[in-house]
Amino acid sequence: MDERQPASRASLYRSWPRYEAADKGFRNYWYPAIESRKLGKKPMAVKVVGEPILLMRDGDKVRALHDRCPHRGVPLSAGRNEFPGTISCIYHGWTYRLADGELCAALTDGPDSPICGKAVVRVKTYPVEERANIIWVYVGDQPAPPIEEDVPEEFLAEDAVVIPMIELRKGDWRYAMENAVDEAHARYLHRKTPFAFFRLFPAYQTDVQMVPSEDGKWLRRLSKPVFGPQNYPGVGTWPRDGFWRKAGGQVIVGKARLPGVFYVGHKNWQDFQFFTPVDEQHHLMCQIAVRRTKGLGALWWKLRVWSYIQLFHRIMLNRWEDGFIVEAMDCPPERLFRPDVAIVAWRRWCDLHARGLDGERAAKAEAEAEDGGASVASGDAASSQQASKAELT
Ligand code: FES
Ligand SMILES: [Fe+2]
Repeated sequence: MDERQPASRASLYRSWPRYEAADKGFRNYWYPAIESRKLGKKPMAVKVVGEPILLMRDGDKVRALHDRCPHRGVPLSAGRNEFPGTISCIYHGWTYRLADGELCAALTDGPDSPICGKAVVRVKTYPVEERANIIWVYVGDQPAPPIEEDVPEEFLAEDAVVIPMIELRKGDWRYAMENAVDEAHARYLHRKTPFAFFRLFPAYQTDVQMVPSEDGKWLRRLSKPVFGPQNYPGVGTWPRDGFWRKAGGQVIVGKARLPGVFYVGHKNWQDFQFFTPVDEQHHLMCQIAVRRTKGLGALWWKLRVWSYIQLFHRIMLNRWEDGFIVEAMDCPPERLFRPDVAIVAWRRWCDLHARGLDGERAAKAEAEAEDGGASVASGDAASSQQASKAELT
């Protein structure tokens, strides 16, 4: 499949200028970048919010450096760990200290190379932390907030068993996040997925709203499910579910938070989905399963994730079904319907609350939104926008 050009999507978010500008994500957040178990002493290349980053372990520390040698622009992640605490560029052996990015030797210019220590050849380093079996990086322009601001507290509980799976996916991170926010798609796209073979899905839902949590971090999705066969005038009856499907096991809670996180509360486990922007056309799909348990319970939980949940949920449902949609969808244009109130509310939430807007501009954006400045051209979408405004104010 040909990769679509970002320019073709630029006007989709024109009513939410900050969201539109965030084609590579919101910078001032901690993002999950790689599973801890996959990172060793060997340099690894990742890209987060458009920044190429070298990650590697250095003793008991994890280091993150801009993945570009200032000499001639070669990725440092192709280099060698020639001396302790350093990375040597593979091309001419410029050698940088991992802790602060300073050029401490230029091997092929001799021990007295005058370029060493100069500020112009220092490589940028990034704040990096390891929590809950995940390496998190921060590429923001503002000083990094404490990582606990961005890592959900459920990950940090003493008995939390956190099992991440992080993979590169094609598609704009916003499509992926909006797909998670979109409840209606689960009723149809996932209806026949093996993971939910025995579950009774609603046919549709009414009264979709996104409601901010008390701490202001989450937008919780609320709706009223309608079960059972429905008569669609002039078309027929749907759904036609098998007798073996039973109610229960449905998603209990669905909620979204910045910078691009969706939480799905299952009956006895929690599924966090982080959409780490890579560039305009790729994101890291971070599926993070969490359960509070200990001892044998923890062992059983790990077995369950690495077998059943891995195959049926993470791969068949999420990668093959959602991943296909996010890669294949092509908009603008778009024409929204009632369930998309949730998507519109999410876009607006980002526009108003993403970090990086100073106080004066934030107040102006809020005032413009109150004046209806965020309406959109399509009649359907405009009514959705109005609905979301009513629910959020
Ligand atoms: S490009 Fe890195 S040392 Fe020359
Ligand atoms: Fe889905």
